Amino acid sequence: MDSKRIMIALDVPDAPSAKPLLAQFSGIPLTIKVGMELFYSEGPKFIKQLQEAGHHIFLDVKLHDIPNTVRSAARVIAKLGVFVFNVHAAGGVEMMKAAKAGLEEGWDGIGIKPLLIAVTQLTSTNQACMNDEIGIPGEVSDTVIHYAKLAKEAGLDGVVASAQEVQLIKAICGDSFLTITPGIRPSGSDIGDQQRVMTPADAVRQGVDFLVIGRPITKASNPREAVLSIIKEMSEA
Ligand code: C5P
Repeated sequence: MDSKRIMIALDVPDAPSAKPLLAQFSGIPLTIKVGMELFYSEGPKFIKQLQEAGHHIFLDVKLHDIPNTVRSAARVIAKLGVFVFNVHAAGGVEMMKAAKAGLEEGWDGIGIKPLLIAVTQLTSTNQACMNDEIGIPGEVSDTVIHYAKLAKEAGLDGVVASAQEVQLIKAICGDSFLTITPGIRPSGSDIGDQQRVMTPADAVRQGVDFLVIGRPITKASNPREAVLSIIKEMSEA
């Protein structure tokens, strides 16, 4: 099992807060998910430090703007040598294609080529909010599938979705269309504010490619042990 399939959500405000946690992972190559808070506070220099420590980076900045602006942003992000970054599928096919074009322009052609992933419907959006506020009719899961199809059409590598939707997404978009799933909880761990959760072993059995895991690791009394135990669970699944 490639330990980089685990994407640790480093939901901390700055580098000093991240340091003790990262020290726990020394010698275990992981994918570190850096979100807006940490990236806006620490910037590209911090990304480089994480890469030098042997980690891959999922830059979770969820681009969503006019195609030209997204293309320029994607071009700059691709130069950072991140493993994965993402855009909102709600920006439409033209915007996603622009992101892909920017990636191709910015990538140096030598290091790992960044994967480009679409965020479908945020899990914080419930049915009422999607229907009445955002103005999209129907079920949330239909929107997730619709967005996955658009992402595929735009030439993206995959989507962020719930592990429950992975089999359907793979059936429609193909096995090689990547899925990244949050809401992962090893059995016995605190669910927190996640609604629909799945264990790492079950997620692997569902065909999930990458597992985003935050608090079950970052808030564990021994984060290193927590990661090692998840790696073992995934290997045995
Ligand atoms: O701590 P926990 O394992 O719940 O962290 C999950 C991570 O995945 C957080 O960074 C959260 O913002 C992110 N995420 C999510 N649901 C989504 C998209 C991203 O939980 N639909």
